[in-house]
Amino acid sequence: MTTFRELGVHPEICDALERGGITTPFAIQEMTLSVALMGTDLIGQARTGTGKTLAFGIPVLQRSVSPKDPDYAELPQGKPQALIVAPTRELALQVSSDLTLASADRGLRVLTVYGGVGYEPQLEALEAGVDVVVGTPGRLIDLANRKSLDLSHVHAVVLDEADEMLDLGFLPDVEKLMRMTPETRQTMLFSATMPAAIVSLARTYMRHPMNIRAESSYENATVPATAQFIYQCHDLDKPEIIGRLLQAEDADKFIVFTRTKRQAQRVADDLAERGFAASPLHGDMAQVAREKALAKFREDKIRVLVATDVAARGIDVRGVSHVINYTCPEDDKTYVHRIGRTGRAGATGIAITLVDWQDLHRWKLINKALDLPFDEPLETYSTSEHLFHDQGIAPGTKGRIADPKPVEKKEPRERSGDRAPRNRNRNRTRTRSRGGEVVAEVKTTESGEKQVEKVESSAGSGSGSSSSRNRRRRRSRGGGGGQGGGQQGAGQNSQGGSAPAGH
Ligand SMILES: Nc1ncnc2c1ncn2[C@@H]1O[C@H](COP(=O)(O)OP(=O)(O)OP(=O)(O)O)[C@@H](O)[C@H]1O
Ligand SMILES: [Mg+2]
Repeated sequence: MTTFRELGVHPEICDALERGGITTPFAIQEMTLSVALMGTDLIGQARTGTGKTLAFGIPVLQRSVSPKDPDYAELPQGKPQALIVAPTRELALQVSSDLTLASADRGLRVLTVYGGVGYEPQLEALEAGVDVVVGTPGRLIDLANRKSLDLSHVHAVVLDEADEMLDLGFLPDVEKLMRMTPETRQTMLFSATMPAAIVSLARTYMRHPMNIRAESSYENATVPATAQFIYQCHDLDKPEIIGRLLQAEDADKFIVFTRTKRQAQRVADDLAERGFAASPLHGDMAQVAREKALAKFREDKIRVLVATDVAARGIDVRGVSHVINYTCPEDDKTYVHRIGRTGRAGATGIAITLVDWQDLHRWKLINKALDLPFDEPLETYSTSEHLFHDQGIAPGTKGRIADPKPVEKKEPRERSGDRAPRNRNRNRTRTRSRGGEVVAEVKTTESGEKQVEKVESSAGSGSGSSSSRNRRRRRSRGGGGGQGGGQQGAGQNSQGGSAPAGH
């Protein structure tokens, strides 16, 4: 097996990596290192969690001159020698930390330049002299405009998550930054997803780039060791489903991705109220709070991070057993990156996507783009036997581990007009319909909790007279008529009555 040393990596970097438990190069590192160490431009594509950071990080560090080195005297003193750009602050911090680890013995000064925090520490560090700058575009441009950051001497520019950096949102800023750097620079672009259009655009910023892929085709963009499940479910049932999943056999840490910041907040609050240590992570939070949430998640002080796409790319946290898409992701790329937060560096992972009825079309597009076999997601409830079976949830498990909080008097409610005041009519039942057909009942229990129950669709509206209890029993016993029957039925649910609806 090839070693980092055989690939020409500096012994000081090899030693530092070894101390961090990194001894054998991963595929993308083996494929790119010898090329990148020569200063060649390259586009590197490899699946999520397969070591792209060091694939660009090692050459950046090795081709920078250490202040310990006699040659350092010939450089413009203290000016950045390399620039790495990332789409989010948390990712910039993480890349910096990986580089700091790898350069521990080289004495290179790595600085993270990012927004949402004070200018002073960054200005002071730049003043004192830095060698490698890792940053997000806004603050980088800001500091460059103030003449505090001089990018005119960098030998290398890296765009991590390059397809995102070259997408419309970031492109003008990235172009500005590129123009501040020398034309003779080495340019390296890395991502797990590199659509052809972005590759052609990228080439205009590069000189004879090599295109290196660690796998042969885009259709395998997802990590094979991550088991994927797609369930069609009701919005109101999702917290209960997640609460049950959190008690599944191999459940460790979870990242739950939501569509909006408000939803992230709400779901995190809901899960916390159910007794699970959860925290939101989204762009409306103060930067200090964002970093604190991620730090607590890394340190196992919380188990669930409920995040917007701010955490979709690049973030590497050990022990993430599950990624849950609370709603269908925007597109195939977002899906690939989100679920890539689990199953990293050879670990296995579970990715569960909860698709609402109105998002079914969107899901089908993703399914097709990635050539996945989940064209018809199974209709799924927190009580569905196949959910318990697929996910290794013990029979009888409920989606909460703490007693419900006493019902509050005043209640700011998520969707106004969607429900009657809670104090009246507490034991209510109301129905949800799809195209006029009743598909589920939403019941509010004594404790104020909502339960979503499927209504047998074959029975149509004529089943009005049968009580909900009968319906429940019929479903958990037979699994018969409907599509709810799940895969191989023989699992733990065969004892019958195993997945009651709770109440
Ligand atoms: N050669 C190696 N041996 C062991 N672990 C490694 C090696 N290279 C990287 N790792 C570890 O693998 C994990 C994933 O690496 P990294 O974050 O660079 O992945 P990535 O390819 O950038 O993923 P993403 O596409 O999600 O950004 C990290 O925890 C990293 O420390
Ligand atoms: Mg990465």
